[in-house]
Amino acid sequence: MTRDIVRKARLSGERTEDIESLLSSMEADKFIASSDVLVDMAHLVMLTRQQIVHEDHAKTLMKELLTMHESGVPPDAFDPSYEDIHAGIETVLTKKTGGDAGGRLHIGRSRNDEVAACLRMRTRDIIIDQLEAVCRLRSVLLSVAEGHVTTVMPGFTHLQHAQPVTLAHHLLAYEQIFSRDYDRLFDALHRVNCSPLGSAALASTGYPLDRMYTARILGFDRILVNSMDSVASRDFAEEILACDTMLLTHISRLCEELIIWSSSFVQFVVLDDRYCSTSSIMPQKKNPDVAEILRSRAGTVLGAFVSAITIVKGLAMAYNRDLQDLNPHLWRGISNVRRDVDLLAGMIETAEFNRERMEEEAGKGGTTTTELADTLVREFDIPFRTAHHIVGRAVRDGLLDLATLDKAAEEFHGKSLSSLGVTQEKIESALSVETSLSVRRLPGGPAPEAVRSALDNCRKELKKDVEQVSNKKLNISASLDELLTQARRIAQL
Ligand code: ARG
Repeated sequence: MTRDIVRKARLSGERTEDIESLLSSMEADKFIASSDVLVDMAHLVMLTRQQIVHEDHAKTLMKELLTMHESGVPPDAFDPSYEDIHAGIETVLTKKTGGDAGGRLHIGRSRNDEVAACLRMRTRDIIIDQLEAVCRLRSVLLSVAEGHVTTVMPGFTHLQHAQPVTLAHHLLAYEQIFSRDYDRLFDALHRVNCSPLGSAALASTGYPLDRMYTARILGFDRILVNSMDSVASRDFAEEILACDTMLLTHISRLCEELIIWSSSFVQFVVLDDRYCSTSSIMPQKKNPDVAEILRSRAGTVLGAFVSAITIVKGLAMAYNRDLQDLNPHLWRGISNVRRDVDLLAGMIETAEFNRERMEEEAGKGGTTTTELADTLVREFDIPFRTAHHIVGRAVRDGLLDLATLDKAAEEFHGKSLSSLGVTQEKIESALSVETSLSVRRLPGGPAPEAVRSALDNCRKELKKDVEQVSNKKLNISASLDELLTQARRIAQL
């Protein structure tokens, strides 16, 4: 005789282990077991308020649910012979309370709206953790940047020396990227935190359920208004996987730089030993393994995203069991992202940036030649393209002195620079790293004053974001406190 409470009347015969293991979502349901208890409690509080379930039955059931909430879902509920944790918990509850009470919990609902509610609650909590971590990372980037507003270094394009920037400017570029990742995650939260409860299997139910109430005490922002959409859609999962893929892609770029920067070729940074490994054979090695694995994580999360979205593709309305197979990919994709972000923050916070090496490279590779061309334009009225040709030819000839530039100017401009009043001192000052940086003081530029003002703005934005996520968290926990108060009241009636 099957143990599964859902199956036993309608279907006969035992299922083979292979069938059970294919069908059971128990492994992935470990992520939602505790949310399922909260969803059960909220549903029961609402059924009682609506006088759909009598207080005596509610009391018996609620006591068991509170025990599960406080001591954890018992191991029996996870028996893989149950199709899922919903069947497992209902079976355990029914065993404890008898069918008269236990058999009433599932009034007016289906596992379809139940699982969607659980997935959304757990995903919401994970997003909130990620949002907090992204704020911590941004704060670290801002603090490190603060100490390096005048640490000059080459900026690169095509990984070739391009123009001088500062380490602060470079780090602020990442801070901006991560602040957009924050925005995307927070925006996704808005679409995740919606209640499907009351949608039942697909066509809602004839019982007078109070959808708004269950939504509110579970901390959801709103209900999903269409009962078929509620149970059939997983775009909330696809969206967070997409957001996390982007976030990890950004992490991978920064890690790639830390890896290059910590190489003996470059030596811009020394990573703290705790983030590095050594070799089993080469005694000298200090490898940036944490940065490497963090760089690879985008691949894992993208894989989860592709799996999830491909599973949903082509599914007819409404619920299909395929949707269950998406859940392991969701958890695989999103559950370690908070850790990854925190590790990156720690790695940057403890890294030692090598100012001398950065300064040494800042003016190399012709990084200031753009400013020399710009000086010829600004002060000597030469068209930019001509100035670019003059300086470019001098670079090709291997010398940026007045004689070489004069020769190039005669070829491209028909007269020497000296004849226009350009002096060797003028050339040297235009080619200095300090000049190149200090004139780039537009908003968003690398000049120290522009970077200081960018830092101020970033700090203000970060403060707002930190408050926003903390308010969201407080609202959710206030709702869940209210749920527990109501649940305890029913248990003590
Ligand atoms: N374990 C299922 C899932 O994760 C729950 C819903 C099952 N519904 C059904 N009709 N079989 O999707």
